[in-house]
Amino acid sequence: MIYLDNSSTTQPDNAVLESFIAANLEYYANPASLHRMGRETDVLLRRAKEQMLQLVNNREGEVVITSGGTESNNLALIGFAMAYRSRGNHVITTKIEHPSVLLACKHLETLGFEVDYLSVDEQGIISIEELDEKLRKDTILVSIMHVNNELGSIQPLAACAELIHKKSRAVFHSDCVQSIGKLPVNMQHLGVDAITVSAHKLNGLKNTGALFLKKGIKPQAIMHGGGQENGLRSGTVSVPNAVALAKALRLSVVEKERADYRTWRNRVLETCTKYENIQVLCPKNSAPHIVSLAFRGIKGEVAVNYFQENGLIVSTSSACSSKNGQAGHVIEAIGLHNRFKNGVVRISFGNTTTDEHIEQLVSVIERFIDVIEKGM
Ligand SMILES: Cc1ncc(COP(=O)(O)O)c(C=O)c1O
Repeated sequence: MIYLDNSSTTQPDNAVLESFIAANLEYYANPASLHRMGRETDVLLRRAKEQMLQLVNNREGEVVITSGGTESNNLALIGFAMAYRSRGNHVITTKIEHPSVLLACKHLETLGFEVDYLSVDEQGIISIEELDEKLRKDTILVSIMHVNNELGSIQPLAACAELIHKKSRAVFHSDCVQSIGKLPVNMQHLGVDAITVSAHKLNGLKNTGALFLKKGIKPQAIMHGGGQENGLRSGTVSVPNAVALAKALRLSVVEKERADYRTWRNRVLETCTKYENIQVLCPKNSAPHIVSLAFRGIKGEVAVNYFQENGLIVSTSSACSSKNGQAGHVIEAIGLHNRFKNGVVRISFGNTTTDEHIEQLVSVIERFIDVIEKGM
């Protein structure tokens, strides 16, 4: 089977697994313990964190180890809103965020916060003008994802940051789960105050993530207990998981966009633009590792099954919204035509992808179109 569902999750890298096992065998003591083994484990944790901070160009800042992207997003959204509520109660996000941001925002609404959801164009991109209109004196938090997990659309974070910091005192958070490792994620260049990452999208381990914070930016904790992670995330820190995350980041972080992914993406685009029965979602300004295709008059799961029978693992728009077979909130937000909107398939490349896989993919797409044209 050829695995082309890397935006759902990736195969852990051997080097990551090795560092996880090595750390577990030797550094299993609690890093909060005062004895020598505890202190040595704490030194390892600090080293892993320094490395991670350097990789995102946030040396002066802090990184909180979490159980993944979902927890990091919840800590950012709920934690910042609670921490800064004396300044105001207005939050801005977008209509196409991952549910871990959107539902955290819905929760904030129940607590009395006012949330504005920015719309996106047909390319899945927000408008700076709308952000400008929505920013207010009492805006305390703006959360805009870097790369959308269903479309691959890339948001103009640096331009957003400039505007947000000029017009307000809001904290600017970005969910970078789908961008880091594929596009440069440099916190200084992007102008963001906090970013979310998740290890399992980077050939790391599931249930590990991080929230990177610029110096002086602190959310209120949402997990209460022993006060670990400078009081920001209670619970014994798994140093092996942190070490494995640092390793996965070190192996994946890029200074330039990955050219091989872009070449593969273009190859698929060239193939698909020949056919009327396929619409490529967000062909412009999209991350190189995600290609979402909409098949006219076909259900996404039918396409996914056809691809699977032909040796390829792909997904419907996102693993989270794929179970109910309905067009998800992202597909609705870009206003995809009714004839296409239930037939979205997401193909996502990763470290295990090769040129041969892409040739096989192209040939299966061509055969599938043939089948559709003949009326299945
Ligand atoms: C953009 C985005 N944010 C957050 C998450 C959640 O990450 P995790 O699975 O580590 O909780 C995902 C996972 O699909 C994602 O794609």
